[in-house]
Amino acid sequence: MELYIDTANLDEIKRAAGLGVLDGVTTNPSLLAREGVELAPHLEAICRIVEGPVSAEVVATEHEGMIAEADVLGQIAPNIVIKLPCIEEGLRACKTLSDRGIKINMTLCFQPLQALLVAKAGAFLVSPFVGRLDDVGADGMEVIQQIRTIYDNYGMATKILVASIRHPMHLVQAALIGADVATAPFKVIQQVMKHPLTDLGLERFLADWAKAKPEASNQPAMT
Ligand code: E4P
Repeated sequence: MELYIDTANLDEIKRAAGLGVLDGVTTNPSLLAREGVELAPHLEAICRIVEGPVSAEVVATEHEGMIAEADVLGQIAPNIVIKLPCIEEGLRACKTLSDRGIKINMTLCFQPLQALLVAKAGAFLVSPFVGRLDDVGADGMEVIQQIRTIYDNYGMATKILVASIRHPMHLVQAALIGADVATAPFKVIQQVMKHPLTDLGLERFLADWAKAKPEASNQPAMT
């Protein structure tokens, strides 16, 4: 499963990229607004840090406006993926832009039929929002499972990008279902490598070693 970071914060993106396992970035208008920056130079800076897909979302809500914004965003860097909302106009724009060879991420997906249609329209990615579904008492991961089944039934190539991830268990479930990509906030990415038994175990190993070999405990290789 590919791992993207869901943020527009440069420091977080740099730190996640430094882990060596980051495949891409997702942004949205709320995340970019939070940074209080100018859009194009900021997206360009993100694209310089991460080679993989960087999703940038349009704010137009009708077909022509979406195409015009996509043209502008697409000029920023070759790895920009255009994010469009899962509404009728977004579906039409997805078809138009995908036919031109432009990679599209269909966002704000909340049910499997939206995912079916955007795949038919040629979307590169579909982003079902699991956390926001859980928030309203629905089962976000069940939607991921349904989309996985539908895509596999028909050999659809659109990648399932699990979005609105709130905690590491969402990542575990996404991987078990066979989602193609998961995008997580930096806080969740940091939690992934954390386990109290790992910390405790390491502490004990180092303490035992230091007791037995006090003179070697600070050296890089075991002697
Ligand atoms: C995905 O691309 C969205 O930016 C994101 O995952 C939304 O998550 P939220 O529900 O935490 O805002």
